[in-house]
Amino acid sequence: MYQDWNTLEQACLQCRKCGLCETRTNVVFGVGNENAKVLFIGEGPGENEDLQGEPFVGRGGQLLDKMLAAVDLSREKNIYIANIVKCRPPHNRDPFPEEQEACLNWLRNQVALMKPKIIVCLGRIAAMKLMNPQIKITKEHGVFIERNGVLMMATLHPAALLRNPNNKPAAFEDFLALRKKIDELQLDVAKDYRAVPDSDT
Ligand code: URA
Repeated sequence: MYQDWNTLEQACLQCRKCGLCETRTNVVFGVGNENAKVLFIGEGPGENEDLQGEPFVGRGGQLLDKMLAAVDLSREKNIYIANIVKCRPPHNRDPFPEEQEACLNWLRNQVALMKPKIIVCLGRIAAMKLMNPQIKITKEHGVFIERNGVLMMATLHPAALLRNPNNKPAAFEDFLALRKKIDELQLDVAKDYRAVPDSDT
């Protein structure tokens, strides 16, 4: 386990734990506010992400940013975004189970340092790996479950919404439910609920 974000990122950028390192342009470590309480996790980088070294920067990413903005969330401000695998699978195939396993310690270390209160899985692959291998995301999206003190929820993958725009309203309901949960638990770092220090500090 790396004890600070910078050392962790530097080590991850050198990773050669699976074959995806042979074909990657960039390792896509993650982006956002490391002190956020809400962590979004996708599947793995696509072509644009591989070229730019940042998650969700293609058309799916633009849709994600729009849905986030509609509930006053953004990667610049109050969330962090990472992926199950940090390197692009060739031709955007699903990452193999052994690639996911090889990569997962980077994400575990990110979670350990960040200590999110809410994790949102973007799409089936992340939801199956992190929540439930049997999950049926079309039925179970938007439902919060608790795991080791962390609330977890799956929503539809933005790329799936681009293929199937009819599902956008249902996915947006998930973002509204997320906003409600953040407000209930006062988790929005951008709103700085904890600006008033304790009297003994
Ligand atoms: N799809 C993902 O799951 N992650 C990305 O970073 C980009 C597209």
